[in-house]
Amino acid sequence: MKPIVTLTLNSSVDVQWEVPEMLHTKKLRASNGITFPGGGGINVSRVIKTLGGQSISVFTSGDFVGHFLREMVDNAGLITRVVQIEGVTRTSSTVFDRSTGQEYRVTPPGPSLTEREWQACFDALFDISTDYIVATGSLPLGVPDDFYARVSHRAKKQGRRVVLDTSGAPLAAALEEGVFLVKPNRGEMKRLMGTGDLGPQEEEALAQQLVREGKAEVVALTLGGDGALLATEGRTLRLRGPDVKVKSAVGAGDSFVAGLTYGLARPMELADAFALGIASGTATVLTAGSELCRRQDIERIYREITGKSLDV
Ligand SMILES: Nc1ncnc2c1ncn2[C@@H]1O[C@H](COP(=O)(O)OP(=O)(O)OP(=O)(O)O)[C@@H](O)[C@H]1O
Ligand SMILES: [Mg+2]
Repeated sequence: MKPIVTLTLNSSVDVQWEVPEMLHTKKLRASNGITFPGGGGINVSRVIKTLGGQSISVFTSGDFVGHFLREMVDNAGLITRVVQIEGVTRTSSTVFDRSTGQEYRVTPPGPSLTEREWQACFDALFDISTDYIVATGSLPLGVPDDFYARVSHRAKKQGRRVVLDTSGAPLAAALEEGVFLVKPNRGEMKRLMGTGDLGPQEEEALAQQLVREGKAEVVALTLGGDGALLATEGRTLRLRGPDVKVKSAVGAGDSFVAGLTYGLARPMELADAFALGIASGTATVLTAGSELCRRQDIERIYREITGKSLDV
């Protein structure tokens, strides 16, 4: 299996705090902050590593925060291809309020990229031999809305599969071009299709419509605690994980993408790869803040869903 290439244009350093109670003005005595390397593609690479797979993480890094991020990514044992930028890599934070059990997520927009910088990311991506490119996250300021569409256009010419997880105009533009797999959540699907709340049958109909129209060969519509549905030509699967106590949903979508893509790249049967996506997403909600999933949780949940062991 060739390594999966992940792309993170808007990388971040994620800091996670726990406070006894969220109160304004007062000094909040927090736990020692835990830091994680963040941004969609980096998260996907971290989970692929947990699953025993290999990926190459292409990401932007700027100034001293970027330097710190690179150290963290190296410590996480990921293989990287760094694109140096002028701006300062963003810092995101998660604050967990112990008194209510609620979590607050603060995510700044991140630095703007110049044309030379986003072009360097594009070139880096196609410099690496791979079968799967995972493009996730919002586009930073300065990057044209059709960036992911351009990635897909080039990838298709080279026989590579693009897995896309983004929203809004960049998502719509990429689907006009057509991608291999797209992973909207409920809100992203509604916005894309210009609809209100969707019932189960409408969800399936819209996912199948995207496949029929050639926008994606595989549509994975994730539904939070309700699991996900997977549409391919003439076939729709629906799956949900076991009921679990949710600690934090941060990174659940990225973990789902990692499990599914890794499963497809191995290759596993479509239904098993889908189950691995659900198992990875569900395992991530078991951990606090920006921590992602643990191997033993993924294995246990995968076995519960499929009755099979994850032999890797
Ligand atoms: N509350 C939950 N309980 C159980 N599993 C969950 C929950 N939230 C998410 N998951 C799992 O993670 C997968 C992806 O979650 P979700 O649909 O929330 O993605 P997302 O909205 O893209 O997430 P993100 O906020 O990371 O972008 C789901 O299909 C499910 O398997
Ligand atoms: Mg998401």
